[in-house]
Amino acid sequence: MSFFTGKAANNGESVPERIIPAHVAIIMDGNGRWAKKRGMPRTFGHTQGARVAETILEDAADLGIRYLTLYAFSTENWSRPEAEVSALMNLLRKYMKTSLERCSRNNVRVRVIGDKSMLSKDLQESIEELEQATASNTRIGFQIAINYGGRDEIVRAIKRASQEGLLSDPSKIDDTVINDHLDTAGIPDPDLLIRTCGEQRISNFLLWQLAYSEFYFTDKAWPDFNKAELEKAIDAFNHRERRYGGLTV
Ligand code: IPE
Ligand code: IPE
Ligand code: MG
Repeated sequence: MSFFTGKAANNGESVPERIIPAHVAIIMDGNGRWAKKRGMPRTFGHTQGARVAETILEDAADLGIRYLTLYAFSTENWSRPEAEVSALMNLLRKYMKTSLERCSRNNVRVRVIGDKSMLSKDLQESIEELEQATASNTRIGFQIAINYGGRDEIVRAIKRASQEGLLSDPSKIDDTVINDHLDTAGIPDPDLLIRTCGEQRISNFLLWQLAYSEFYFTDKAWPDFNKAELEKAIDAFNHRERRYGGLTV
Protein backbone atom coordinates (compact mmCIF):
# COMPACT_ATOMS: atom_id res chain seq x y z
CA MET A 1 0.00 0.00 0.00
CA SER A 2 1.27 3.42 -0.88
CA PHE A 3 2.08 5.72 2.02
CA PHE A 4 0.62 8.66 0.13
CA THR A 5 -2.99 7.82 -0.44
CA GLY A 6 -5.88 9.97 -1.44
CA LYS A 7 -6.07 13.70 -0.88
CA ALA A 8 -3.74 13.80 2.11
CA ALA A 9 -0.69 13.39 -0.16
CA ASN A 10 -0.11 17.14 -0.39
CA ASN A 11 -2.41 18.27 2.40
CA GLY A 12 -4.78 19.57 -0.21
CA GLU A 13 -2.36 22.34 -1.21
CA SER A 14 -2.37 23.20 -4.86
CA VAL A 15 0.69 22.11 -6.84
CA PRO A 16 2.46 25.14 -8.35
CA GLU A 17 2.20 25.17 -12.11
CA ARG A 18 5.29 24.30 -14.10
CA ILE A 19 6.79 27.17 -16.08
CA ILE A 20 7.68 26.28 -19.63
CA PRO A 21 10.73 28.23 -20.84
CA ALA A 22 9.80 30.27 -23.90
CA HIS A 23 13.14 29.68 -25.62
CA VAL A 24 15.26 26.56 -25.23
CA ALA A 25 18.69 26.33 -26.89
CA ILE A 26 20.52 23.01 -27.15
CA ILE A 27 24.15 22.09 -27.80
CA MET A 28 23.56 18.65 -29.27
CA ASP A 29 26.79 16.94 -28.28
CA GLY A 30 28.04 13.37 -28.15
CA ASN A 31 26.98 11.86 -31.48
CA GLY A 32 30.51 10.60 -32.17
CA ARG A 33 31.07 9.09 -28.73
CA TRP A 34 27.62 7.46 -28.83
CA ALA A 35 28.45 5.77 -32.15
CA LYS A 36 31.97 4.76 -31.10
CA LYS A 37 30.59 3.05 -28.00
CA ARG A 38 28.52 0.90 -30.33
CA GLY A 39 31.46 0.09 -32.61
CA MET A 40 29.96 2.26 -35.36
CA PRO A 41 31.43 5.14 -37.39
CA ARG A 42 30.89 8.67 -36.04
CA THR A 43 28.59 9.47 -38.96
CA PHE A 44 26.15 6.83 -37.71
CA GLY A 45 25.83 8.93 -34.57
CA HIS A 46 25.10 12.01 -36.65
CA THR A 47 22.35 10.23 -38.58
CA GLN A 48 20.75 9.13 -35.32
CA GLY A 49 21.27 12.62 -33.88
CA ALA A 50 19.43 14.19 -36.81
CA ARG A 51 16.43 11.92 -36.13
CA VAL A 52 16.42 12.93 -32.48
CA ALA A 53 16.52 16.61 -33.48
CA GLU A 54 13.33 16.20 -35.52
CA THR A 55 11.55 14.41 -32.68
CA ILE A 56 12.64 16.96 -30.08
CA LEU A 57 11.24 19.76 -32.24
CA GLU A 58 7.83 18.08 -32.10
CA ASP A 59 8.15 17.44 -28.36
CA ALA A 60 9.18 21.04 -27.72
CA ALA A 61 6.18 22.36 -29.64
CA ASP A 62 3.86 19.97 -27.79
CA LEU A 63 5.21 21.19 -24.44
CA GLY A 64 4.48 24.79 -25.42
CA ILE A 65 8.07 25.93 -26.00
CA ARG A 66 7.87 28.90 -28.40
CA TYR A 67 11.47 28.89 -29.71
CA LEU A 68 13.93 26.04 -30.07
CA THR A 69 17.50 26.68 -31.21
CA LEU A 70 19.76 23.74 -32.05
CA TYR A 71 23.53 23.92 -32.57
CA ALA A 72 24.14 21.78 -35.64
CA PHE A 73 27.54 22.91 -36.97
CA SER A 74 30.00 25.39 -35.48
CA THR A 75 32.50 27.66 -37.25
CA GLU A 76 35.15 25.39 -35.69
CA ASN A 77 33.62 22.13 -36.93
CA TRP A 78 35.20 22.66 -40.40
CA SER A 79 38.43 21.40 -38.83
CA ARG A 80 37.03 17.86 -38.66
CA PRO A 81 37.97 15.26 -41.32
CA GLU A 82 36.47 16.12 -44.68
CA ALA A 83 34.37 12.94 -44.78
CA GLU A 84 32.68 13.84 -41.50
CA VAL A 85 32.08 17.45 -42.58
CA SER A 86 30.47 16.32 -45.80
CA ALA A 87 28.33 13.73 -43.99
CA LEU A 88 27.06 16.51 -41.70
CA MET A 89 26.40 18.82 -44.66
CA ASN A 90 24.51 16.03 -46.43
CA LEU A 91 22.29 15.51 -43.40
CA LEU A 92 21.54 19.24 -43.29
CA ARG A 93 20.88 19.27 -47.03
CA LYS A 94 18.49 16.36 -46.65
CA TYR A 95 16.71 18.08 -43.75
CA MET A 96 16.17 21.30 -45.73
CA LYS A 97 14.90 19.40 -48.76
CA THR A 98 12.50 17.10 -46.95
CA SER A 99 11.04 19.29 -44.21
CA LEU A 100 8.93 21.81 -46.08
CA GLU A 101 5.72 19.82 -46.04
CA ARG A 102 6.10 18.72 -42.41
CA CYS A 103 6.99 22.18 -41.13
CA SER A 104 4.05 23.70 -42.97
CA ARG A 105 1.68 21.07 -41.57
CA ASN A 106 3.06 21.54 -38.04
CA ASN A 107 3.11 25.34 -38.26
CA VAL A 108 6.88 25.52 -37.64
CA ARG A 109 8.92 28.57 -38.66
CA VAL A 110 12.47 27.63 -39.63
CA ARG A 111 15.42 30.03 -39.53
CA VAL A 112 19.08 29.26 -40.01
CA ILE A 113 21.56 31.27 -37.95
CA GLY A 114 25.26 31.43 -38.77
CA ASP A 115 27.25 32.55 -41.79
CA LYS A 116 25.36 30.98 -44.68
CA SER A 117 27.68 32.47 -47.30
CA MET A 118 30.23 29.71 -46.61
CA LEU A 119 27.74 26.92 -47.35
CA SER A 120 27.36 25.29 -50.76
CA LYS A 121 25.07 27.10 -53.20
CA ASP A 122 22.44 24.34 -53.29
CA LEU A 123 22.29 24.19 -49.49
CA GLN A 124 21.91 27.98 -49.34
CA GLU A 125 19.06 27.77 -51.83
CA SER A 126 17.15 25.09 -49.98
CA ILE A 127 17.60 26.99 -46.69
CA GLU A 128 16.22 30.11 -48.36
CA GLU A 129 13.26 28.18 -49.72
CA LEU A 130 12.42 26.58 -46.35
CA GLU A 131 12.81 29.89 -44.49
CA GLN A 132 10.57 31.72 -46.92
CA ALA A 133 7.91 29.01 -47.10
CA THR A 134 7.61 28.84 -43.31
CA ALA A 135 8.07 32.55 -42.52
CA SER A 136 4.49 33.12 -41.41
CA ASN A 137 4.19 29.97 -39.26
CA THR A 138 3.52 30.64 -35.60
CA ARG A 139 3.46 27.50 -33.42
CA ILE A 140 7.20 27.33 -32.77
CA GLY A 141 10.27 29.18 -34.06
CA PHE A 142 12.95 26.64 -34.96
CA GLN A 143 16.46 28.06 -35.32
CA ILE A 144 19.19 25.81 -36.69
CA ALA A 145 22.75 27.05 -36.14
CA ILE A 146 24.91 26.15 -39.14
CA ASN A 147 28.45 27.47 -39.60
CA TYR A 148 27.58 29.35 -36.45
CA GLY A 149 30.04 30.94 -34.03
CA GLY A 150 29.02 33.42 -31.33
CA ARG A 151 32.08 35.59 -31.95
CA ASP A 152 31.61 35.47 -35.70
CA GLU A 153 27.96 36.46 -35.29
CA ILE A 154 28.91 39.50 -33.18
CA VAL A 155 31.59 40.54 -35.69
CA ARG A 156 29.11 40.24 -38.57
CA ALA A 157 26.51 42.21 -36.59
CA ILE A 158 28.98 45.03 -36.02
CA LYS A 159 29.93 45.02 -39.71
CA ARG A 160 26.28 45.24 -40.76
CA ALA A 161 25.53 48.05 -38.31
CA SER A 162 28.62 49.88 -39.53
CA GLN A 163 27.59 49.52 -43.19
CA GLU A 164 24.26 51.07 -42.24
CA GLY A 165 26.15 54.02 -40.73
CA LEU A 166 24.88 53.22 -37.22
CA LEU A 167 28.27 53.22 -35.53
CA SER A 168 29.57 56.62 -36.59
CA ASP A 169 28.29 58.32 -33.42
CA PRO A 170 29.62 56.38 -30.37
CA SER A 171 26.98 57.92 -28.10
CA LYS A 172 24.32 56.10 -30.12
CA ILE A 173 25.87 52.63 -29.82
CA ASP A 174 23.89 50.52 -27.37
CA ASP A 175 22.67 46.95 -26.73
CA THR A 176 19.80 47.42 -29.16
CA VAL A 177 22.07 48.26 -32.12
CA ILE A 178 24.00 45.02 -31.61
CA ASN A 179 20.91 42.93 -30.83
CA ASP A 180 19.06 44.10 -33.91
CA HIS A 181 21.92 43.08 -36.18
CA LEU A 182 22.53 39.60 -34.79
CA ASP A 183 21.24 36.59 -36.73
CA THR A 184 18.73 36.13 -33.88
CA ALA A 185 17.24 39.64 -34.22
CA GLY A 186 13.60 39.58 -33.12
CA ILE A 187 13.97 36.30 -31.21
CA PRO A 188 13.98 36.51 -27.39
CA ASP A 189 17.14 35.33 -25.57
CA PRO A 190 17.15 31.67 -24.50
CA ASP A 191 15.72 31.02 -21.04
CA LEU A 192 17.35 27.61 -20.86
CA LEU A 193 20.51 26.21 -22.43
CA ILE A 194 20.94 22.44 -22.48
CA ARG A 195 24.20 20.68 -23.34
CA THR A 196 24.28 16.91 -23.68
CA CYS A 197 27.09 14.37 -23.16
CA GLY A 198 28.97 15.74 -20.20
CA GLU A 199 31.04 18.71 -21.38
CA GLN A 200 30.33 21.89 -19.47
CA ARG A 201 31.24 24.68 -21.89
CA ILE A 202 29.47 26.81 -24.50
CA SER A 203 31.81 26.14 -27.43
CA ASN A 204 31.15 29.53 -29.04
CA PHE A 205 27.34 29.21 -28.99
CA LEU A 206 25.09 32.29 -28.60
CA LEU A 207 27.68 34.23 -26.57
CA TRP A 208 25.63 37.42 -26.51
CA GLN A 209 22.21 35.85 -26.06
CA LEU A 210 23.07 33.51 -23.17
CA ALA A 211 23.91 36.40 -20.81
CA TYR A 212 21.16 35.45 -18.33
CA SER A 213 20.11 31.98 -19.48
CA GLU A 214 19.96 29.05 -17.07
CA PHE A 215 22.40 26.25 -17.97
CA TYR A 216 21.56 22.56 -17.72
CA PHE A 217 24.13 19.83 -18.38
CA THR A 218 23.37 16.15 -18.77
CA ASP A 219 25.60 13.13 -19.33
CA LYS A 220 23.13 11.66 -21.83
CA ALA A 221 24.54 11.65 -25.35
CA TRP A 222 22.41 13.50 -27.90
CA PRO A 223 21.22 10.34 -29.73
CA ASP A 224 19.76 9.13 -26.37
CA PHE A 225 18.02 12.43 -25.63
CA ASN A 226 14.22 12.36 -25.63
CA LYS A 227 11.09 14.06 -24.35
CA ALA A 228 11.57 12.72 -20.80
CA GLU A 229 15.10 14.20 -20.74
CA LEU A 230 13.77 17.51 -22.02
CA GLU A 231 11.17 17.51 -19.25
CA LYS A 232 13.90 16.79 -16.68
CA ALA A 233 15.72 19.91 -17.89
CA ILE A 234 12.49 21.91 -17.64
CA ASP A 235 11.95 20.61 -14.10
CA ALA A 236 15.47 21.70 -13.15
CA PHE A 237 14.75 25.10 -14.74
CA ASN A 238 11.70 25.38 -12.51
CA HIS A 239 13.92 25.10 -9.45
CA ARG A 240 16.18 27.95 -10.52
CA GLU A 241 15.84 31.44 -9.18
CA ARG A 242 16.54 34.02 -11.86
CA ARG A 243 17.71 37.23 -10.27
CA TYR A 244 19.23 39.15 -13.22
CA GLY A 245 21.67 40.81 -10.85
CA GLY A 246 18.94 42.01 -8.53
CA LEU A 247 17.78 40.68 -5.16
CA THR A 248 14.94 38.37 -4.33
CA VAL A 249 12.40 40.01 -2.09
C1 IPE B 1 27.73 16.74 -31.88
O1 IPE B 1 28.36 15.53 -31.70
C2 IPE B 1 27.46 17.07 -33.32
C3 IPE B 1 28.36 18.09 -33.89
C4 IPE B 1 29.28 18.75 -33.28
C5 IPE B 1 28.21 18.34 -35.31
P1 IPE B 1 29.94 15.38 -31.84
O2 IPE B 1 30.25 15.05 -33.26
O3 IPE B 1 30.64 16.56 -31.32
O4 IPE B 1 30.20 14.11 -30.95
P2 IPE B 1 31.37 13.91 -29.90
O5 IPE B 1 31.34 15.09 -28.98
O6 IPE B 1 32.65 13.84 -30.69
O7 IPE B 1 31.02 12.64 -29.22
C1 IPE C 1 29.71 22.04 -30.22
O1 IPE C 1 30.17 20.75 -30.09
C2 IPE C 1 29.21 22.27 -31.62
C3 IPE C 1 27.95 21.60 -31.96
C4 IPE C 1 27.21 20.88 -31.15
C5 IPE C 1 27.50 21.80 -33.31
P1 IPE C 1 31.70 20.37 -30.32
O2 IPE C 1 31.80 18.91 -30.11
O3 IPE C 1 32.16 20.88 -31.63
O4 IPE C 1 32.42 21.20 -29.17
P2 IPE C 1 33.81 20.96 -28.44
O5 IPE C 1 34.84 20.76 -29.51
O6 IPE C 1 33.66 19.75 -27.59
O7 IPE C 1 34.02 22.19 -27.63
MG1 MG D 1 31.39 17.07 -29.49
